[in-house]
Amino acid sequence: MLSNEKSTDALDLSHHLSKVGKARHTSPLKGLQKYMGKPGLISLAGGLPNAAYFPFSSVSGEILAPDSFPLKTDFEESSLSWFWKLFSRSDKERTSTFTVGKYSKRPGDLDLENGLQYGLATGQPKLNEVIREFVGKVFQPAYKNWTTLVHTGNTDAWFKTVQTILNPGEGLIVSEWTYPSAMASAQPFGIIPVPVGMDSEGMSSISLRETLSEWDESARGMPRPHVMYTVPVGQNPTGTTMGIQRKKEIYDICVEYDIIIVEDDPYYFLQQGKYVPKSDRVAEPDTDDEFTLEPAMFGTYSILTILRLDYQGRVIRLDTFSKTVCPGSRLGWFTCNPMFAERLERTAETSSQAPSGFTQIYVASLLLKWHYEGYIRWLKALRLQYKQRRDYFLDCFADEFHLKATLSTEGYTAGAHIYHASLKPKRSFVLLSEKDVAYSKPLFSFVPPSSGMFLWLELHLDDHPSFSSLGYKALEMKLWTEIADAGVLFAPGAMFFATPVEDDTPGYGHFRISFSNSTVSSIL
Ligand SMILES: Cc1ncc(COP(=O)(O)O)c(C=O)c1O
Repeated sequence: MLSNEKSTDALDLSHHLSKVGKARHTSPLKGLQKYMGKPGLISLAGGLPNAAYFPFSSVSGEILAPDSFPLKTDFEESSLSWFWKLFSRSDKERTSTFTVGKYSKRPGDLDLENGLQYGLATGQPKLNEVIREFVGKVFQPAYKNWTTLVHTGNTDAWFKTVQTILNPGEGLIVSEWTYPSAMASAQPFGIIPVPVGMDSEGMSSISLRETLSEWDESARGMPRPHVMYTVPVGQNPTGTTMGIQRKKEIYDICVEYDIIIVEDDPYYFLQQGKYVPKSDRVAEPDTDDEFTLEPAMFGTYSILTILRLDYQGRVIRLDTFSKTVCPGSRLGWFTCNPMFAERLERTAETSSQAPSGFTQIYVASLLLKWHYEGYIRWLKALRLQYKQRRDYFLDCFADEFHLKATLSTEGYTAGAHIYHASLKPKRSFVLLSEKDVAYSKPLFSFVPPSSGMFLWLELHLDDHPSFSSLGYKALEMKLWTEIADAGVLFAPGAMFFATPVEDDTPGYGHFRISFSNSTVSSIL
């Protein structure tokens, strides 16, 4: 069911609340806050400092124009000028300024009197308005009464979600490789990861159905899980992205087994499309012409969110400004049904209270200055910037190694073209034929990611001379340490296993490499 059939409110899913989630009462003082901001209200209730004593008379900033980065790779440019544009800082930035004063001049303007005061856990009203407009236009949840609520970044949002819907001793469905910080957040609460197999589109719906349908409560020592954590786009660490059909299959299974889906989607706007080797690359059509606000905002690369499919209100979606504005903003938002939103608000009231007032003012000013269209323009260009970085990174591999692509049929790469990298013959007097090169053993393999920031390298450790004496885990760490000592830091693969495995479990031997933040010197 998609948005045009949006006729119903969310189901009552309150049976998913944890004991802690249910037990939270409105913070006694925060209960008064809903009256704040009412015109003419004389509030003598709270311990609010007087805004006259805030030592900030105004805050201002200088922001880039939303069209600062192009929407198209300029293939006419020499490769050198293209390269320098991507990797160097421009000294000709186009900017504009904003200032927010202590007291607003017009009703509804941002001001510091309210913006730097104790605020609502739901977020400053102006920012909330912008976020709501964005979710309504871009994500279009498939039920009527969806709600948004600001948070202080997806890390904290997940932490709050865990407390709200999971009890100690319960299982949590995750992909077999997953984001370790999310596990580190849940495990101390006694939450047990339940890994599900993956293929080239992330979590496998076949494996998910098997796990759920064959669940044996006494053998597993816990009831069947009722919560799933997933990173559907540019998955951390494998870089996989779920297509819309896969999302639909996963969603339908979750409806069948009554599972809440936590959609942690920081890389949604970094969809870069398929990697095309340098020699086959051609100019792309001007995406600005295809630009429609909805639903296919990214033309051929558009992949709808799981939230978009959610006609029951069982998705808690986490969005963050970390990858699209800056991580230091510590700002993002939940989109979920009003029952979960109310419980999450109660959790926030007694922890973060609300994201920082400065942060909310800065990000709201940016978005109000750019307007919706400007922010979309920014996101589209950002996607291209990371696409170029990814392409350049992989092109360097192609220059250094002999790459051979095959269609993978097994494991988490099943269904994708996987590149096997073997050493190129050094310049020597003995010329190796193309056949010899192709037959030399690959050192590592990878599937070019179509979204996100990560390249997931599978190392062929079995062929390493020290493999028989060290085994997978020790050899992965040995190689990782040698590379780190040489001054290059990758993330070792073992830390991304959803559950700890034995030292010699086949499958060890991965590095996660980020292509998002490299400088010229680090690549060359
Ligand atoms: C899957 C995933 N979730 C969450 C985060 C952190 O997001 P935030 O900065 O909003 O806390 C990251 C960042 O690397 C991530 O990869």
